[in-house]
Amino acid sequence: MKEAIDRLLEELSGLSCKTQKEVEEARVRFLGKKGEITRLFDEFRSFDKDMKREFGSKINALKNAAVAKIEELRSQAGSDDEAGASTQDLSMPGDQFELGSRHPVSIVRQQIVDIFRKVGYEVAEGPEIEDDYHVFEALNFPPNHPARDMQDTFFVSAGHLNPLLLRTHTSSVQVRTMEKMGLPIRVICPGRVFRNEAISARAHCIFHQVEGLYIDKGVTFADLKQAILMFAREMFGPETSIRMRPSYFPFTEPSSEVDVSCNICHGKGCNICKGTGWLEILGCGMVDPNVLKASGIDPNVYSGFAFGMGVERIAMLKWQVNDLRHYFENDIRFLREFSTAVEV
Ligand code: PHE
Repeated sequence: MKEAIDRLLEELSGLSCKTQKEVEEARVRFLGKKGEITRLFDEFRSFDKDMKREFGSKINALKNAAVAKIEELRSQAGSDDEAGASTQDLSMPGDQFELGSRHPVSIVRQQIVDIFRKVGYEVAEGPEIEDDYHVFEALNFPPNHPARDMQDTFFVSAGHLNPLLLRTHTSSVQVRTMEKMGLPIRVICPGRVFRNEAISARAHCIFHQVEGLYIDKGVTFADLKQAILMFAREMFGPETSIRMRPSYFPFTEPSSEVDVSCNICHGKGCNICKGTGWLEILGCGMVDPNVLKASGIDPNVYSGFAFGMGVERIAMLKWQVNDLRHYFENDIRFLREFSTAVEV
C-alpha cells in the first residue's frame, strides 16, 4: 500500500496536460470509479484497525493531492479549440479591409486652398453659428436691406438686436480676420455654409465655400483680375480664360461675377455651358470702404479685394457632375469614382 501511494504521489507531481481532454483522462485514471485511487480505497476498506490507522491519513492526503492537481491542470490547459491550433497557419495573410477614399468635395476644397496657399494666402476659420453682425451688419447689409433676402438665413435665435444664425457665407470669417489680424491681410476661408433653399440639382441647404480676402496699400482691380485668372488656370488648365461681368454685393464695390471658358467644348457651346461657352464660378469685387471702416481699417490708406466660390459648384464643373445632390447622398458607387482623383 505504501509503495502504491508513493508511486501515485510521484506520478501526480510529474503530471502535465496540454488539453482539457487530457485532464479528463487523468482524472478518470486517478479518481474515476475504476481509477487507481478508488482501487486503493477498496483495498483500504478490508484493512484491520491498525492498518487503517496507519494508512488512513496517507490515502486521504493522496486523494486530496489528486483533486488539487486535476483542478490545477484543468485551469492551465488550453481549450480544446486551441488544441487544433497547430493545424492553423498563423503566417497566412489576414482579411483585407477596403480603404475608403477622400470625398470629392474635400479633394476640391483642398485643391482650391493649396492653389492660394502657394501664393501666400493663409487659411482662416471661424464659427458656423454666427451672429447677425459678422454675417450681415459688418458687411454693409443695413437692417432690413433687401440684399439680406439674397441669402435665405436659418436663424438660431431671433427677436433681439444681434440674433444668432447659421452663417450663409464664410465672409463672416473675413470680418473676424479684419478685426484681429494685423495688416496686410491675405487669407482664404474654407468652410460649411447654410441657406434655407429647396434642395434641387443646383442648390442645397448646406454647402461649402472658399472665400478669399486681400487687403494692403494700393491693391487694385487689376490685382483681383490677376488672382482670379491665376486660380482659374491652376484649377481648370492653362488654356482657361476668364470673363468678368458686373454684379452687385453689398460688401464689394465694384462687384463682379466671374465665368471661365467651358473646359468641355472650349467655347464652341455644349450642354454643360448651355451653349454659351462660359461657366460661372465665383463672385468677387473690391472691398467696400464701409466694410473696411466697420472693422477699423482706414479706406483712404488701404484697399483690398474679396472673392467667394462654392466648392460643390467647382467640383461639378471640374468633373461634369450634373446634380449637386450626388455630393451629399454618399452613394458608394459615386464616391468610388473619385478614389483615384489626384490630390494636389
Ligand atoms: N459672399 C458671397 C456669397 O456668398 C460671395 C462673395 C465673396 C462675393 C466676396 C464677393 C466677394 O455669395
